[in-house]
Amino acid sequence: MTLITGIAGFIGSHLAEALQGRKLIGIDNFNDFYDPEIKRKNWAEVQLNSEAILYEGDIRDISFLDKVFSENKISTVVHLAAMAGVRPSLKNPMLYEDVNIKGTINILECMKKNQIKNYVFASSSSVYGESKEAPFHENMKIDHPISFYAATKKAGEELNHVYAHLYGIKTINLRFFTVYGPRQRPDLAIHKFTRLIYDGLPVQIYGDGSFKRDFTYIEDILDGIIKSIYFTEKQKGFLFETLNLGESMTTDVNTMIALIEKYLKIKAQRQYLPPEPGDVPLTYADISKAKKLIGYAPKTKIEEGIEKFVGWFKKKNS
Ligand SMILES: NC(=O)c1ccc[n+]([C@@H]2O[C@H](COP(=O)([O-])OP(=O)(O)OC[C@H]3O[C@@H](n4cnc5c(N)ncnc54)[C@H](O)[C@@H]3O)[C@@H](O)[C@H]2O)c1
Repeated sequence: MTLITGIAGFIGSHLAEALQGRKLIGIDNFNDFYDPEIKRKNWAEVQLNSEAILYEGDIRDISFLDKVFSENKISTVVHLAAMAGVRPSLKNPMLYEDVNIKGTINILECMKKNQIKNYVFASSSSVYGESKEAPFHENMKIDHPISFYAATKKAGEELNHVYAHLYGIKTINLRFFTVYGPRQRPDLAIHKFTRLIYDGLPVQIYGDGSFKRDFTYIEDILDGIIKSIYFTEKQKGFLFETLNLGESMTTDVNTMIALIEKYLKIKAQRQYLPPEPGDVPLTYADISKAKKLIGYAPKTKIEEGIEKFVGWFKKKNS
């Protein structure tokens, strides 16, 4: 049985659907980081395509977790539940520490106690901070995070290493690079900008629009997560790895907006503002390690991905 934490979220709900045929349970607390109704709808869609069972509760609550782990014979954990997002973490560092660090230790403790050995963890490209060297490679030093969110993800990777080392939990940390696609979180740029342009409202761009992101389409992230799950379960002689999951292609914010305009067929009202603290100018994944180790094979170019995203958005709003 596989446990997905954060199952009602953007990535978790897609993963649950993609793992049809596996015995699945999920945890989610439907918090209000963004409208919980969206997560209820995600979960309703999951239920149409999967037998997954939901435990509604909080990963910070160890007695809740004890119940989930004791009632189920879990063999693999995919830990996606977290407070996500760079900018909101500047406003509420304690909450990010509580969920992303304490919550992760709780999950690891339950894995230790129940002798669960297969583990995939959602980390983030933000751990690379303002690295001047690009593309980002997993061997690079990541000692200078510039947001609380990034620091908690780095801490999560390190805690995972401790548990792997001490208790033999076979672990893959996956550093996701800005994921987008249907059901994308409404706080993330592609979704937020599409909404604003669609509603005829100004789009606020922090900086001059030259910041570049390695935008990764949801189906490609799923390819990487699923191959990682199989790797932890089947691969002999492996204990701990960290992998980038991106497209290894970068797109600047101005180009991203132009693509949204093209597929919405609406012109954006651009409003340029000073850059926000915590934002990094570039994310760019070197994915050679993931390709070699797990056979990761991303294939979605930004133009195609945004066309699909806007198609989903228009259908949802028609
Ligand atoms: N989406 C991206 O671009 C991206 C990039 C890098 C890393 N990540 C990481 O991937 C993971 C999934 O991201 P997402 O975009 O799907 O986010 P999301 O917010 O849509 O999903 C996270 C889910 O976890 C749940 N959750 C949060 N705190 C919880 C708690 N204390 N107890 C139980 N459930 C809780 C939320 O309700 C939500 O449904 C996160 O760990 C995030 O940090 C995402």
